[in-house]
Order: sequence, then C-alpha cells, then structure tokens
Amino acid sequence: MSALLEVRGLRTVFPGESGPVPVVDDIAFDLDRSEVLALVGESGSGKSMTALSILRLVPKPGRVDAGAVALEGENLLDLPVTAMRRIRGRRISMIFQEPMTCLNPVLPVGAQVVEAIQLHEAISTVDARARTRDLFAEVGIPDPEARLDAYPHQLSGGLKQRVMIAMALSTRPEILIADEPTTALDVTVQAQILALLRDLQRERRMAILLITHDLGTVNELADRVAVMYAGRLVEVAERRALLSEPLHPYTRGLLRSMPALARPGERLPEIPGVVPPPDQWPSGCRFSTRCAERFEPCADRVPSETEPAPGRRVWCHDVERRLDGGAGK
Ligand SMILES: Nc1ncnc2c1ncn2[C@@H]1O[C@H](COP(=O)(O)OP(=O)(O)O)[C@@H](O)[C@H]1O
Ligand SMILES: [Mg+2]
Repeated sequence: MSALLEVRGLRTVFPGESGPVPVVDDIAFDLDRSEVLALVGESGSGKSMTALSILRLVPKPGRVDAGAVALEGENLLDLPVTAMRRIRGRRISMIFQEPMTCLNPVLPVGAQVVEAIQLHEAISTVDARARTRDLFAEVGIPDPEARLDAYPHQLSGGLKQRVMIAMALSTRPEILIADEPTTALDVTVQAQILALLRDLQRERRMAILLITHDLGTVNELADRVAVMYAGRLVEVAERRALLSEPLHPYTRGLLRSMPALARPGERLPEIPGVVPPPDQWPSGCRFSTRCAERFEPCADRVPSETEPAPGRRVWCHDVERRLDGGAGK
C-alpha cells in the first residue's frame, strides 16, 4: 500500500540576484498513516519551507517549482485553489511555533475555534461550541467551559498552544504538521505539550510531521526521522537506529550537541560554523564546508542516495565509500 503522503522531488525557490535560489531542493519522503515523522535540522535548513510547500502556503515571491506532494495518490500541487483550501481545512492541519501570533487578541479563544469549525462545516454555533468545549477538555485545558470565553492574553503560553492544538484538531485531520510546537515554551510546559501530542496521536491515529531542531523532542515522539541540511535531506532512518547509530556526519554532530547526552555543567560540543545562506550553498555536498570527514569528491559532487540498511537512506560520499569497500569493490 502506498503511503498516506508521498513527497517527491520537492523544490521551492526564491528569486535571487542571479536566478532562482532553492531553499528546499529535491526533497523526497513518505509519511505513513498514524506515523510520527520528525523533520530535523538546524535553523535555516528549510524545514518550515518544506511544510509550507506541502500546504502550498509558501510566502511570495517564493514558489514551489518542481516535485509532487501526493495525498493518497492525489497531487496537491495540481489541485485548484478551492480544493486545496478544503484539504487544508479538513485533512491536513498545521500548528506553529508562536501560538500568540495566530490567535486574534480581541476575540475569546472559544469563539475562534467555533469560527474555524464553522468555516469548514455546516454546524450550528451551539453544536460547534459544545465540540470546542470537548476539544478543550481533550487537550487538557482545565475548566474548559469557562476557558471558552477567555481572551488570549488571559492564558499562559502553554494554554494558548493547547488552544491552537484544539483548533488544529477541530476538523479531525488525518495529518497534523507541527512546526516547532514547543520551542517558545518553558521546559516543563514543553514536556507537557509533547506528552499531549503523543496521547492525541495514539488516540486519534493521526499522522504527525513534527518539525524540530531538538533531538530530545525526536526521542520523545518520533517513529522515524528525516534529517535536513541546507535544503536537502542527508539521512532518513527509524528513530532508534538514527539515535543509536547515526551514519551521516551531520547527524552525528547534532547528536553530540544533544543535552541528554552531556554531563551536568559540561559544555556541549557544537558543529562548528552555521548553515550558510541559500545563495552560498556549496555545489557538491552542502555540508562539505563544515564536515570533518570530507575528502576529495565532497566539495564538487552531490552525493547520491544510498541505502545502507533497509528503510535507511543516507546521502554522504564517505558512507558510500565504506559501502563500496564493504562490497569488495
Ligand atoms: N521570505 C523569504 N525570502 C527569501 N528567503 C527566505 C524567505 N523565508 C525563508 N527564506 C530562506 O529559506 C531558508 C529556509 O528557511 P526555513 O524553512 O524557515 O528554515 P528552518 O525552518 O529549517 O529554520 C532560509 O535560509 C531562509 O533564509
Ligand atoms: Mg522553521
């Protein structure tokens, strides 16, 4: 059976001084039903643009210029605008890092969820309000009936994010895209929101595309992981395999800087340097300028996809060389 969502050859560009600059470049992955797939990478890797490309919400003058995003075989990139709006309302929902910026400060939060439900369904206000109260209870908002009439500024950051999750769930989506859903929250609240997402995913059997720069979050929630660097995938693997035996030098670097692996007071090693801006991405392996393992082909040639183990994909000349060596070539 094919995957619920199949992303193939996805490329998204912004105009640059000397032509279009890709910020998402030839990305391909599957999201299965009821699966949590984490999309991981440092800031500026193209994670949010990948999500926005899937939903056809790339801000202008950016645009998706190649690829396919198939939801049960139907390419979303070919749909008329009205049909795409229905998909966004009913089948794929998204929550963002900053719940504050998505809520209207002058409307009670309950009314905002009621409005979102009524946008997609012919349902009376009384019924939509009852459903909103149930959703508030489901996402762990205490005293949900009273909270319906609260204004955003009367709620903590964690409660506002719960309201956003309730709104995203209100249309019973098959896929939830969560873009750094806990980054703006305190550590204890982060853990609560992650636990909530895990429970909701299990109960509703939703698929989640979880965008994060934090491998601790991956460890809590993900079934599989896709690691992105500078607009491209570098490694895709099951969570356990990726965390116990990362194959790409970039994944290893991310893992070394993961707090859970450090002793208290120890300074975490970081990958030297930063993700360069898209118009300065190297022509070969994009990570080559920061990679400790680089050798002769890395700066010039884009690494091809290798499958070192079933279900595992890596794009790295060094991994390729080892695989070839192992095969006696
Ligand atoms: N409106 C824009 N115009 C031009 N470039 C942009 C715009 N928005 C984002 N980018 C670029 O796209 C790249 C990927 O950004 P983004 O997807 O937000 O990364 P991430 O979510 O991984 O931090 C970044 O290098 C960023 O500079
Ligand atoms: Mg982002």
